Amino acid sequence: DMGAHDTYMHKEISEQADAVDRALRGRIDDRFSTVHLGGLNLDAREARGVRRVKILGCGTSYHAGQIGAQMIEELARIPSDAEPASEFRYRNPVVDPDTLYVAVSQSGETYDVLAAVQELKRKGARVLGLVNVVGSAIARETDGGIYVHAGPEVCVVSTKCFTNMVVSFALLALHLGRIRDLSVADGKRIIEGLRRLPEQITEILENEAEIKKLAELYADAKSMMFIGRVRGYPVAREASLKLKEVSYIHAEAYPASELKHGPLALIEPAMPTVAIVPDDDLLEKNRAAMEEIKARSGRILAVAHAEQEKADHTIVVPKNEPELDPILMGIPLQLLAYHTALTLGRDIDKPRNLAKSVTVE
Ligand code: M6R
Repeated sequence: DMGAHDTYMHKEISEQADAVDRALRGRIDDRFSTVHLGGLNLDAREARGVRRVKILGCGTSYHAGQIGAQMIEELARIPSDAEPASEFRYRNPVVDPDTLYVAVSQSGETYDVLAAVQELKRKGARVLGLVNVVGSAIARETDGGIYVHAGPEVCVVSTKCFTNMVVSFALLALHLGRIRDLSVADGKRIIEGLRRLPEQITEILENEAEIKKLAELYADAKSMMFIGRVRGYPVAREASLKLKEVSYIHAEAYPASELKHGPLALIEPAMPTVAIVPDDDLLEKNRAAMEEIKARSGRILAVAHAEQEKADHTIVVPKNEPELDPILMGIPLQLLAYHTALTLGRDIDKPRNLAKSVTVE
């Protein structure tokens, strides 16, 4: 039931404050500035022995994994990366006993992810699941894991589940960090940041009327460029996928630092850029990239913590802890994709050629 909403996509975007609250509920341990993840099935000694983390997923779940890998590397100082599960399973990867594998999936039924899990298990690896659908195939095949508790997601285009996946990765990163090298103070700082998320999400969603206007303004684009750096880059990739899926506008995502190595040639007024510009130590670098785009008469829509004078428009989002900012910066871009699709009259909940869960190869 969509209630007062015209589409499931809109309903699911609007539910995110509650969804995040559910992901946090009962898991925070203030006494030790950490979290309890009941189903993880990885004791402290095993967790300290992890030398690498490899995250596997497809589509949006893969993008959540990219943010997750950065969080685990930053907070737990374990080298981590994400890879599309489909690529991983076809390249005969080295399966290393000291690597912790994490399979990410909303449905828990995506064939490429399931097949990667099965192959890893055959080779004796430890595989955790980060899954939304309780009791799904991937949840059953993995050794343990975290339910992301986003609630049912009906729209083919994933929104609230992405957000809850990233929050769940923050919990995993905090947990691993606190039994390794993360200080009490940093644990506390992250917990306080997590607690602020639901309210900040509500604040972002209250800006919908403004985002709708921006969507109408940019809906004539032939193609759109999405840029970000480090924490902002997977946010840009996910926002680009969201726009493509639901509006059918072509979009590219690049690290801002790569612009001058090629994609700058595409910049012209018909190809606007969405720039992810957090107020972090890369702010000046991001400003320089926006300047280069302006010099080629490209239009810029920035998502930032303060009005950006180099951009034509800025969507201002509330600031959290730098490690958690990616969770918030993607949310207005879900609304941008939704309103762009609405303006263009697209079939929002069931984009052409796509299925909610891809259970075939
Ligand atoms: O159910 P899963 O999370 O495993 O699905 C993975 C992808 O198929 C999924 O994220 C897809 O990219 C969505 N259409 C994204 O909106």
